[in-house]
Amino acid sequence: MSKSKNKLKILSVVSEVVPFIATGGMGQVAGALATALAENSPELDVRVVAPLYAQFREKYEPSIRFVGEAVVKLAWRELYCGVYELEQNNVTYYFVDNRHYFGREAAYGYYDDGERFAFFSKAVFTVMQLSGFTPDVIHAHDWQTALVPIYIKTRFAQEFGGIRTVFTIHNMEYQGKYASEILTDVFDLWPTEMGLVEYDSCINLLKGAIVCADKLTTVSPTYARELQSGGGYGLDAIIAENAYKLSGIINGIDTKSYDPRTDQLLEKNYSEDTIEDKVFNKAKLQELFGLPVSPRKMLICVVSRLVSHKGIDLITYMLSELMKLDIQFLLLGTGDHDFELFFEEMALRYTDKIGVSIAYNPEIANKIYAGADVMLMPSRSEPCGLAQMIACRYGTIPIVRKTGGLADTISDCRMGNGNGFIFDDYSSGALLDTVTYALDLYANREGDWKNLMIEAMRRDFGWDLSAKAYADVYKALCENK
Ligand code: GLC
Repeated sequence: MSKSKNKLKILSVVSEVVPFIATGGMGQVAGALATALAENSPELDVRVVAPLYAQFREKYEPSIRFVGEAVVKLAWRELYCGVYELEQNNVTYYFVDNRHYFGREAAYGYYDDGERFAFFSKAVFTVMQLSGFTPDVIHAHDWQTALVPIYIKTRFAQEFGGIRTVFTIHNMEYQGKYASEILTDVFDLWPTEMGLVEYDSCINLLKGAIVCADKLTTVSPTYARELQSGGGYGLDAIIAENAYKLSGIINGIDTKSYDPRTDQLLEKNYSEDTIEDKVFNKAKLQELFGLPVSPRKMLICVVSRLVSHKGIDLITYMLSELMKLDIQFLLLGTGDHDFELFFEEMALRYTDKIGVSIAYNPEIANKIYAGADVMLMPSRSEPCGLAQMIACRYGTIPIVRKTGGLADTISDCRMGNGNGFIFDDYSSGALLDTVTYALDLYANREGDWKNLMIEAMRRDFGWDLSAKAYADVYKALCENK
């Protein structure tokens, strides 16, 4: 591959990225976007930097190349920082090594996450020094890397102040909030810089990135609007002040790996023309979850993190009601312990109607996308959401709430040419009504339902347009330099 000097250099900085590590949508998006840009935008040299987590190290150690090591200073700490690299699909990935911070079982959820990602954000500058790759644009994602645009305006203004920054909000709910006392000690910011990150008398890293980044994006146009008008989790006013630099770019999905025609994980591959074969996947899925194999029972699924904003509480309120209908229900996901327990209990109570797997498992997820009839996403808020798009690709009909990216990607079949069902009110009544309506339509599986499946499969959710929109954002930033 030629990485010529006159290409625009982009460094995406992210705490997770497929295929190496992902716990949710952000990792999928970071990986797919980099690949799509490398494929479609030869004028860009796209590289990615992420932490070297333990799971990744075990799997990829033989194929990664050591670039160098240095000491990263974080306030009074002097910390080891190893840098490794790997090239895949024409994208160079750099990995930041420090076993104390990243040699742990999971990517997040530790008492010192603030310190771990402050270290990572500082280490990004060491990666640039050791690799010799000084980008024109740094693209940071969510609170874990919020300090990168903040450091460019503060600690590294002299050396790296010329780099333009894009900050993408994948989920406004996670802001990186900390007590103001640790500003200097952990985040290596000075008391005079508190104003940049201060919100509600606390440190709020997301707020700092919103203020410091040159350009803000979020993952759907509707979410961009919602953030300024009641959906900003307290930061609405800050977002509104910075709205001049905000745009909403809808995510895509990786249509190559999510393809029912070729997906190796499927019991039987199918396309719009052989959609009858989807039922073989349904039977296999019912078997996998220990449910009676029945082609005629509507199989409703949830593949989600089990957290409140995904609308999981709504499902818990109405699951018993749902059980009165002639359906089966499957759930795959991990998250809040109470939700996990609830669904496990329900699976014990309704052994032949409910199947549950408390896991994050992309392989089972694909089997569900292929085997299910309906994908339920009643999110309270949903910046973009990927499962509804993947479901469509596999001819599985989404029932979604009208919010964020769900509103931008799903149109209601009751209004004409739709690819799913959409309801507005965040209530179990509205959800139940919609499921009941879907069940009525499902009774006509050979006619209306089949047409709906074909319509859903025909929608283009690939990355082409969105990757181009990001490429345009990078270019516009550099034009104004
Ligand atoms: C977050 C959001 C989800 C979005 C994903 C990728 O996980 O909750 O809606 O699709 O990021 O941007």
